Amino acid sequence: MAAFSPSSSSFPTTILCLLLFYPPRSLSNPSPGSGLVSFTGGKGNYPMMAREFLTAHNKVRSTVAERPFQWDRQLARVAKRWSEVRRADCALKHSRGPFGENMFWGSGWTWRAADAVTEWASEKDFYDAATNSCAVGRMCGHFTQIIWNSTVRIGCGRTECYGGGVIITCNYDPPGNYVGEFPLNATA
Ligand SMILES: *[C@@H]1O[C@H](CO)[C@@H](O)[C@H](O)[C@H]1NC(C)=O
Repeated sequence: MAAFSPSSSSFPTTILCLLLFYPPRSLSNPSPGSGLVSFTGGKGNYPMMAREFLTAHNKVRSTVAERPFQWDRQLARVAKRWSEVRRADCALKHSRGPFGENMFWGSGWTWRAADAVTEWASEKDFYDAATNSCAVGRMCGHFTQIIWNSTVRIGCGRTECYGGGVIITCNYDPPGNYVGEFPLNATA
């Protein structure tokens, strides 16, 4: 690029130095191969990530008096495998497996496990339990999967895509969101 040729003025050189000495976090490469961490930049570990996903889910469930989920390593492996597949294109494509599945995509590297759950759970505002319906033009399915009465276990994964962006995916077993069924425990 002409801007960085030796004959250019000192101004572009200053920009180059800024890039060298103050690399924006969002442009730095996440540790390749790790990909599945709770926090950005390769920090955190598997138990921390699992706990964060589980705690965030169970907080939402407690607001509607549903039993807490259990963490399931097999489901987490499935989620990890799928999010690894998506590292190249970072696309929100469902795996079409036998489990319930919530997915999240965010630009940049900073999205945490709990951020995805918060985003999904925010659909609560659009869900009307009295009529078991969702506001027109809105989605409620992520929220209703989180609170689904007969779902017992979850396993999730978070991955940083090669080209930027974060994919977070959770699997739910038994799956929820059967059309026409009421998500909550009507007997409670
Ligand atoms: C919700 O789950 C509990 C515990 O498994 C069960 O006893 C109850 O019958 C379920 N409620 C409905 C409406 O399916």
